[in-house]
Amino acid sequence: MITLTINGQNHEIDAEPDMPLLWVLRDRLNMTGTKFGCGVAQCGACTVHVDGESRRSCSTMVGDVVGSEITTIEGIDGKVAKAVQTAWQKLDVVQCGYCQSGQIMSAIVLLSENQKPSDDEINASMEGNICRCGTYQRIRAAIHEAAKSLA
Ligand code: FES
Ligand code: FES
Repeated sequence: MITLTINGQNHEIDAEPDMPLLWVLRDRLNMTGTKFGCGVAQCGACTVHVDGESRRSCSTMVGDVVGSEITTIEGIDGKVAKAVQTAWQKLDVVQCGYCQSGQIMSAIVLLSENQKPSDDEINASMEGNICRCGTYQRIRAAIHEAAKSLA
């Protein structure tokens, strides 16, 4: 048994320590907002926060995050998260949506660390989040919009 703290709640999970966090989230806890894309830390679809930092849950073993605060897209809260969600809606960022929970999780970390990122800083920070639909311009614009609303 492993105990994980996810979105502020403790969950007892019957899992081996080397099971990927993404599997536990989706298959054991039915938290399907976090997506499976590549499975090898190359696309960002599975991004969650571990102690406030972005982590690829497909490549994070549950044994390594015992005792950490894990946040998924279902549990985001606070003024930065709200600003990002509002900007995403206002600018209609989403196309198919598959990558977007990962994009939002990364954008929240970026704006928590840098409240006025430049285009280059956004590109550098978000480059690990792939969007097959090519919504990159709208993502950039929404991050600027969220930054403006936080100023
Ligand atoms: S599914 Fe984890 S980075 Fe692609
Ligand atoms: S919105 Fe379709 S993959 Fe990004």
